[in-house]
Amino acid sequence: MQDGRKVVFSGVQPSGNLTIGNYLGAIKNFSGFSDEYKCYYCVVDLHSITVRQVPAELRKRTYDTLALYLACGLDPDKNTVFVQSHVPAHAELAWILDCYTMFGELSRMTQFKDKSAKNAQNINAGLFTYPSLMAADILLYQTEMVPVGADQKQHVELARDIAIRFNTIYSDTFVVPEPSIIKTGHKIMSLAEPEKKMSKSDSNENAVVRILDTKDTIIRKFRRAVTDSGSEIRFAEGKDGINNLITIYCAFTGKTVEETENEFSGMGYAEFKAAVGEVCADSLAPVQEMFAKYSSDKGFLESVMKRGAEEASYSARKTLSKVKRKVGFII
Ligand code: TYM
Repeated sequence: MQDGRKVVFSGVQPSGNLTIGNYLGAIKNFSGFSDEYKCYYCVVDLHSITVRQVPAELRKRTYDTLALYLACGLDPDKNTVFVQSHVPAHAELAWILDCYTMFGELSRMTQFKDKSAKNAQNINAGLFTYPSLMAADILLYQTEMVPVGADQKQHVELARDIAIRFNTIYSDTFVVPEPSIIKTGHKIMSLAEPEKKMSKSDSNENAVVRILDTKDTIIRKFRRAVTDSGSEIRFAEGKDGINNLITIYCAFTGKTVEETENEFSGMGYAEFKAAVGEVCADSLAPVQEMFAKYSSDKGFLESVMKRGAEEASYSARKTLSKVKRKVGFII
C-alpha cells in the first residue's frame, strides 16, 4: 500500500518500435488503473541491453517510449512515469535478488530459451538473470498488480516465488504481486506466422504492425496477413491466422467474437482484413497525434522523467533499506 492505495507497476523495453501487441496487451490498459491505484510505469532500459543496441537508437527509443506512454493517456500528474536506469535501486536490488533466485528457475524461463536461440552469439549473463531484475522492478514498489501480456506471466510468477522465498527467510518484506492479464489482446500473434507471438524485434516487417505505422502501411500489412484455408470469419481451433485477426478486431472495437462473426457473416477474408486494418489505423490515429506532440518536446519529456525518477527513488529507497537491513548489511 502507498498513500492508502494498492500499487501497480509495469514496464516496457525501449528495444524496438512498439507494436500493437505491446499496445493491446499492455500500454493501452495502463491508464485505467490510476484512479484506484498508485501506479508506476517504467521504461526498462537496463533490460534492453541484454541484447545489443545501437546507443543513439536506444536513447531515442527511450524518449519515444516515454512519449508513447503519455500519448496512450498516462497523465504524469497521476502516475509515476520514469526511466529504470535513473533509479539505481533497481540494479542494486537485482543483485541481492540474484542471490535468492535459483539457476534452475532461470534456466526454465521460456523467454531466456527463445532469446538465447535468437542471439546464439551473445548469450550473456544479463540475459540469464533478466527475470531477477524484473522481480526487483516489481518488488521495490511493494506492487500488488502487474499489468502485462501473456508472455510475461512466467516472469511475474517467478517474482512471486522470489518474494515468498525472501519473506520466508527474513519475515515479511515484500508484497507478493499478481499478474493482471487482459482477456482480449493478451497475446497478439505475428501476421506472417500466426503461431508465433508478434514481437517488436521481428526482422520481417510484414509480421508486425507498429503503433506508429501510417494508415497505408497498416492497411497493407493486414491485407497481406497470412490466413488459413477456408473463407469464413469464424473463430475456430487451429485457425491461428483468422483467430488472431478476430482478436485484434475485438480488442480495438470492444466487440465480442460472436458480434464480430455476425457482423462479417457471409463476407470473405479480404473484406475482413480491410475492416481490421481500418479499425486499427483509426484507433491508433489519436495516439499518433499525441505522440507527435509529446515526442517533439524533449524538454517536457525530460521534466517528466526527472520528476518520475525522484518519486520512484523515494519509494524504492525505503524497500531497499529494509532489504539491506534484513540481509545484514550496515546501512
Ligand atoms: P516487452 O517490452 O517485451 O513488452 C511490453 C509489454 O507488452 C506485452 N506484449 C504483448 N502483449 C500482447 N501480445 C503481444 N504480442 C505482446 N508482445 C509484448 C508484454 O507482455 C509486456 O507487458 N520483461 C518485460 C518488461 C519489464 C516488465 C518489468 C514488465 C521489465 N520489468 C516489470 C512488467 C513489470 C518485457 O520485456 O516487455
